[in-house]
Amino acid sequence: MRAAVVNAFGGGFDIEDIDIADPLGREVLVDVKASGLCHSDLHFAQNDFGMAPPMVLGHEVSGVVAAIGPDVTEFAVGDHVVGSLVQFCGACDECLSGRTVRCLRPEATLRAAGEPPRLSRRGEPVLAAMGTAGFAERALIHENQLVRIDPAVPFPEASVLGCGTITGAGAAIHAAGVTAGDTVAVIGLGGVGLNVVSGARLVGAARIIGIDLNDEKLELARAFGATDWVNAGEGDVVARVRELTGGGVDHAFEVIGRRQTVEQAIAMLRVGGTASLIGIHPAGGTFEVDANTLLREQKKVNGVYMGSSNIKRDIPFYASLFLQGRLDLSDLIASEIALDDINSAYAALHSGKTARTVITRF
Ligand code: APR
Ligand code: ZN
Ligand code: ZN
Repeated sequence: MRAAVVNAFGGGFDIEDIDIADPLGREVLVDVKASGLCHSDLHFAQNDFGMAPPMVLGHEVSGVVAAIGPDVTEFAVGDHVVGSLVQFCGACDECLSGRTVRCLRPEATLRAAGEPPRLSRRGEPVLAAMGTAGFAERALIHENQLVRIDPAVPFPEASVLGCGTITGAGAAIHAAGVTAGDTVAVIGLGGVGLNVVSGARLVGAARIIGIDLNDEKLELARAFGATDWVNAGEGDVVARVRELTGGGVDHAFEVIGRRQTVEQAIAMLRVGGTASLIGIHPAGGTFEVDANTLLREQKKVNGVYMGSSNIKRDIPFYASLFLQGRLDLSDLIASEIALDDINSAYAALHSGKTARTVITRF
């Protein structure tokens, strides 16, 4: 099958013909119909985050079940499914408490040492990164990493549910616990940040301030429910947010992964406010906080992973909101491309102009 293979960090994606194994145990073979270009995959393709080439990335996947392993109970051939990078065993203390995103044994979803690899090239293993490896015609995924969804949801919109939406909306709803009447600022309005705006709107935030360098993104954020917007390239962002809210926001979300914007997020909080950090930083990234200000102003800094989401509960929930017309996913999809265009599409992501690009031709 055709796949976009990363052969070296920083070397881009090579479109190659590789082999995919038949499903074992609880694995599901998915015919990939849409695969979103999340910014995280670019980080993983350029830097060592513990996943080593040769590898196939891609973790915003939707498609149709083509075959199931002998122990699969949840899925049947023909089901429409969404994949997620959240790996959980279903049996540890955290999983049993419903916090699958904190699973203590995520490797339970992977093949054991000694079993043949899921992906290979001329007999040599290729890493199926994150257990999803969605930048390919087909993907072999453990059933715990998949969710069945209503076939009425188009594949591109469905794919975004698997990361952008659960990460962004989940950060507002579950991780930060934004409630009705709160004031919110979202720094970075990409595929994830726009979903933070959606989440804040869903729970009834009073003000939602969208912040980006790009006017097109600010305009887009308006459609998702932003009530105010600030171009970060024009003047002092923190001062502007304080001015708009009369002293700062209850919740600030950093959805880029930069030191400067993290520090801005903390600085723009009102007393008792919470900064939620979502964006992935370069390896070893750090930031500085004035300790006394933090404690005197009772600020909280919250590290957020995958929006604290439980994919089996949350993905069908967001899908139903979408079908009811209460959650915008379609405006996230800026363009649909072919697998062959993955390098140029990732280069365009740097311009900050588009929300989500989705591969729909393999
Ligand atoms: N101030 C404000 N906005 C900025 C700045 C800045 N200094 N720098 C970049 N941006 C904006 C870009 O214009 C863009 O709209 O941040 C946005 C980032 O969006 P994407 O590149 O689409 O990234 P996305 O896929 O949304 O992911 C955001 O979350 O999950 C993580 O790894 C992911 O770190 C990444 C982050
Ligand atoms: Zn577990
Ligand atoms: Zn992602």
